[in-house]
Amino acid sequence: MLTRVKGGGAAARPQPVIKWAGGKRQMLGQYQEYFPCAFGRYHEPFLGGAAVFFHLSPPVAVLSDSNDELINMYRVIQTKVDLLIEDLFRHRNDSEYFYQVREMKVDTLSDVQRASRLIFLNKTCYNGLYRVNRKGMFNVPFGKYKSPRITDVDILLAANRALQRAVLIRAGFEVVLENARPGDFVYFDPPYFPVSRTANFTDFTNQPFGAGDHERLAGIFDELARRGCLVMLSNSDTPYVRELFDGYRAGMISLTANRSINSKADRRGPVGELLICSWMK
Ligand SMILES: C[S@@+](CC[C@H](N)C(=O)[O-])C[C@H]1O[C@@H](n2cnc3c(N)ncnc32)[C@H](O)[C@@H]1O
Repeated sequence: MLTRVKGGGAAARPQPVIKWAGGKRQMLGQYQEYFPCAFGRYHEPFLGGAAVFFHLSPPVAVLSDSNDELINMYRVIQTKVDLLIEDLFRHRNDSEYFYQVREMKVDTLSDVQRASRLIFLNKTCYNGLYRVNRKGMFNVPFGKYKSPRITDVDILLAANRALQRAVLIRAGFEVVLENARPGDFVYFDPPYFPVSRTANFTDFTNQPFGAGDHERLAGIFDELARRGCLVMLSNSDTPYVRELFDGYRAGMISLTANRSINSKADRRGPVGELLICSWMK
């Protein structure tokens, strides 16, 4: 029988379990005043590190992302957190072992091993970045950190509690149309439209997110707003994005984000970001 793994101290607040490019943890303070006070279910179709979901910890949520490894990890945290924690304690922070784990074929692993591999790689790779090549293979090098916290029991248990009433779906963002009802709150955080040709990181999956995707997303934003959902979207502050959402000028809020994930140090730093709220007329 499995002994339930106990965390160290008082219950941790739900928060991201992995670092994710474009993660919204640093933006929560700026977003706070714009979150609706009351809504039905919560939907987050570009889940990533789930900073907004964990922050709001809504009672009922439909969460999705097209990244299979990511959704598998959340399902394992939701239903098998004890086994996951046990498996995470087996990892070691050394370069040779890192590359062995990195080369593992995920389809030969159990769901728990896959989730454990993803967390291990995220905690020990360079800059905590998740990036795959065209074949879908994780390709970030070893991070050489002295003592990364591979297993944070309290944070995993807090995430397990927050996910208890969430539905997790591995799917493209369009799936939200099947699930969102009037009065629901939908938060979209797509890979950002590039500020310049080389500026933005978008290699979360081996399917790039292009202008056609941003246009389809704007159409879905409209459709959900017409349906009576409360729709919020973040993106880069560019003329292209402003034009796509021109019908929501009253709900367009300019914010400043501090981007820390970019391979070029001179491209890290403050950048303009837009938050668009469908209900502000
Ligand atoms: C900017 S990140 C979201 C970050 C998240 N809000 C956070 O706080 O960490 C964008 C996410 O969109 C996902 N994604 C990319 N293309 C997608 C698509 N076509 N449909 C659904 N998800 C997609 C990526 O896997 C990635 O996790």
